[in-house]
This record gives sequence, structure tokens and C-alpha cells, in this order.
Amino acid sequence: MLTPDEQRTAVECFARAVADGALTSGPAAAEFEDALAEFLAVPHAVATSSGTDALIIALRAVGVGPGDEVILPANSFAATENAVWACEATPVLVDVDPVRLTLDPALVEAAVTPRTRAILPVHLYGRLADMTALADIARQHSLYLVEDACQAIGVTGVGQHADAAVLSFNPYKNFGLTGKAGAVVLRDAELAGAARRLAYHGFDPERKNVKQDAFGLNAKIDNSTAAVAMGLLPRLTLNNYRRAFLAKRYLDGLADLAADGAAILPAFTPDHAWHLFSVRTAAGTAARDEIRRHLHTVGAVETDIYYPVLTHQQQTPVHRKHFAHLTLPLTEQAHATIFHLPLHNQMSLSEQDRVIEALHDAFRATAH
Ligand SMILES: Cc1ncc(COP(=O)(O)O)c(C=O)c1O
Repeated sequence: MLTPDEQRTAVECFARAVADGALTSGPAAAEFEDALAEFLAVPHAVATSSGTDALIIALRAVGVGPGDEVILPANSFAATENAVWACEATPVLVDVDPVRLTLDPALVEAAVTPRTRAILPVHLYGRLADMTALADIARQHSLYLVEDACQAIGVTGVGQHADAAVLSFNPYKNFGLTGKAGAVVLRDAELAGAARRLAYHGFDPERKNVKQDAFGLNAKIDNSTAAVAMGLLPRLTLNNYRRAFLAKRYLDGLADLAADGAAILPAFTPDHAWHLFSVRTAAGTAARDEIRRHLHTVGAVETDIYYPVLTHQQQTPVHRKHFAHLTLPLTEQAHATIFHLPLHNQMSLSEQDRVIEALHDAFRATAH
């Protein structure tokens, strides 16, 4: 949710684009791409219509196609695996580091086969995957590295280690706009050119409606959305600091639950955008569900689970065919007991104190 001030800025920027008639294409898109590239200190940015489209574009730009394997975690939003399916490639799911909850580099290396084309780590909840180790593996095995940084904009390092980093600006993200949008940021000019053509029908960017590639999507950011993005970008850093501040307050306020072993909390590290704040219950799934119920019914605190069904446990025929016999013990253990507390830019300290108190109540009331 945008603050009232952000709403005013967004409406003004949108109104200007409408008045100019520059709704789909126009100057704001390129301006925003330049501003985003500068913000992330990455040479190239291609702004897109969503993070999902950006993932498909990034994977296709590095050449992922039919018959290829892409290594990714099972604990992500469906967009991550969907992008792999969209390239007609095969997702190879690998377990996570139990602390970061992101791809375990040693297990990634063990999963590399002659068909592996790319590694696709997800910076889950905003915490960066171990990009240095993953970049080493990618280099050693001549693989592409594409970051799903949809939850991690603003963290130093995004886009610095990979061939492409993918961002989402949907309204629920740290840099949320007034609709769906995303971007791919890249270090290599040729890959950036391929991504740009993939985002718009395969057209040569210099020649209107003349194709340079056989295929491309209609997935450029709308100029009107880019205009809003330009207006809101200067506020991103402060909003991320707000989130980090609130995360630290949660950690301090819940430290006793962690100290007595009832709750497992994330570490306060600088490589974290604090998109989501997770809590794990030491006592298991039933205890987690009871705590959530108590928070809802007694404390009037809404919590959520990201993600309730792991990729390999989805029950479509395709998932059953590919993953029926797959177990990912660390991912499964973590997600059996995880849930997420409210955390957003506009959360007041008293609201947060109420959540902290309600959580203590819930842990006390449900302790057996
Ligand atoms: C990890 C992750 N990947 C990809 C996406 C897809 O982004 P979008 O919703 O902009 O398509 C999201 C967000 O929804 C996400 O959280």
C-alpha cells in the first residue's frame, strides 16, 4: 500500500502520462530503465510488464530452451518455476541452506548435468542467496546464473554476480507500483539487447516493427507505469530502511522466544531487503497452525505462509510426473513450521508492539 504522499505522486505522474497520451510507449520507460540501472549500479535494465515476464525474458535471453535443465529451489512463488516451463525447459529442484532458506551451493553443484543450462536462485523473503559461491559454480561449469531478485530490490549485490537479475514491482513488493511491472538487469550489452528484443516482439529497437529475432513477447513496461516508477524510485531506500528497522524491532521484541528455543527467527544481516519477516515454530506444524489460529482469533493479527505448497508437492499431473519421488528434507522441514508476520512500510510502532505481544500470548497459550 502506498502512503498518502506516494499516492499523490503516483497519481500526478500517471496523470501527466495520460495527458501526454504516452500510455504504452513513451519517454518515461527509457528514463526509468536508466534510473534503475544507476540505482543498482548495473549497466543495463529492461523494464517489463511483470516480474514473471522478466523471468521468462531473462531465461530466454541466456538461451534456456527445450531440453535444458534449470536448477532452482522449491520454496518460491510459482512464477519462478513457471518461467522455466515457459521456456520448455525442465526445473531441477535442489534443497536449501537451512538458515538462509536459499539454494545450497554444494547441492547445486551436485545437481549439475550435461543438460544444465542455468542456475536460478531465489532471494527468498529478501535475503540474498550465496551468490559468490553460486557464481563460482556457474563459472566452473559454464552455466548461466539468473537471480530471481523479485523480493530483494535495494540489497547491495543484486545484479552484481549474475548474468541477469529479475525484479518485480507488483504492489506487494518493496518497490510496489500501481500495477504489475518488473525488470531484468544485466551486465552484458549483448544479453541486454536480446532481453530488450524478447520484451517486444523480437523487434530491432532502432527500427520500428522490423524484427531482428523470430520471437518476442509483448512485455515492455507501460510508459504510464514507468512514469509512476520514476516518481516513486527516490523513496525506495527510505522504505527499505523502514522495513529493516521494523525487522530489527521484531527480532528484539521476540528475542526471548528465540532464546528459550520456542521460535526460530531470521538473522539480522545486511544482505536482506526484509520483504517478509518469517518465524518458525520449534514445536512442529500443529503448533505453528495453532499459534496462527490463536493470533487470528484472539490477537486479531493476520499471518500468512509463503509458500503453503512447495513446488515439488503441487498436485498437477506434470508435477506428479516430475517430482513424485523427490524429497527436499531441509526445504520441507523449514516450510512445515514457517509463517510470516505483518511487515510493511506504513506499519506503526504501536501496531508492531501489538503483534509482538499477541505472538507472546499465542506461544504461551499454545505451549503444551
Ligand atoms: C520470488 C518471486 N518470483 C517471481 C515473482 C513474480 O513477480 P510478478 O508478480 O511481478 O510477476 C514474485 C512475485 O510475485 C516473487 O515473489
